[in-house]
Amino acid sequence: MSRQRLWRVLSVFALMALLLAGCGDPRLNALTPKGTAGDMQLDLITLSILIMLGVFAVVITIFVYVLIRYRKKKGVTREVKQVHGSTLLEIVWTVIPIILLAILAVPTVQTTFKLAAAQPKTEDALKIKVTGYQYWWEFEYLNANGKRFKTAQELHIPAGEKVYLEIHGKDVLHSFWVPALAGKIDVVPGRVNTMWIDAKQPGKYQGKCAELCGAGHALMDFKVYAHSKGDFDNWVAQQTTPYKPQTVAEKEGEKIFKQNCISCHANPNPKIKGPDLSKFGTRETIAGILSHNETNLKKWLEDPESVKPGARMPKINYLNDQEMKNLMEYLMKSK
Ligand code: CUA
Repeated sequence: MSRQRLWRVLSVFALMALLLAGCGDPRLNALTPKGTAGDMQLDLITLSILIMLGVFAVVITIFVYVLIRYRKKKGVTREVKQVHGSTLLEIVWTVIPIILLAILAVPTVQTTFKLAAAQPKTEDALKIKVTGYQYWWEFEYLNANGKRFKTAQELHIPAGEKVYLEIHGKDVLHSFWVPALAGKIDVVPGRVNTMWIDAKQPGKYQGKCAELCGAGHALMDFKVYAHSKGDFDNWVAQQTTPYKPQTVAEKEGEKIFKQNCISCHANPNPKIKGPDLSKFGTRETIAGILSHNETNLKKWLEDPESVKPGARMPKINYLNDQEMKNLMEYLMKSK
């Protein structure tokens, strides 16, 4: 190998290491789990990484040895012995991977059953129906303190409690994933998958769609907020108390909402299914990715696709300035 090529190979490795160093956000890190399922899965990740490192070390050692031992030397010309096939070697490199896979398979199957057994009892556990759409998430609380309601993009759970999730799909394949809490699960249209998650401590965690689902896939984010029991009860109470517009601007905004938005955002049989916005004012994000402020709201309303490619929400760019202001006032105040 020429020195130039060696440096090229080394710089590719250095670049990969740099890129991997970007995965350190604890809210989005499967290697520093904050949930019970995440802990169990980390043991499997560690085992598989150790096996891979072992294989890597052996292969690289042989590789480097051969590079040096049989390199081209000045003044030495020799014909290397030509070998075609070796039954012994074939058996060795078939049997070793079988053994390694068996070492990996046994704890994986055990953990799968342990995870299933640890699932909360459905009668008393908090049950949430999660639905993936291009490119957003709906969360329907089925029994939160005896109440049933919907929200979107922001999943709130009580910390220290196992929460039972029913995963539904409506358009294409997605994958529900909160790396710091638990492994991912497929979102399959026409099929209901189930899983449970918990967060040991109150905190904010990042969720992702982990299945390539179209132009907006990379931006199909959501947040998980784990609250103390008291804060969670307050949040449920707030979500289930209807918002009544107070000011003239809010009331005018409500009219504009009913004329322009409600067919997708509250209608049971919408043309395009959109998130429930009845408590939009309590959210921390717009479209799951932008900070919750008027500048971003205007940007989103006027041209959703400029924010999230492939978004199915139509442009609301035909309102006059006053109408837009009122609509935004209504949305931001809906708490
Ligand atoms: Cu939904 Cu990727």
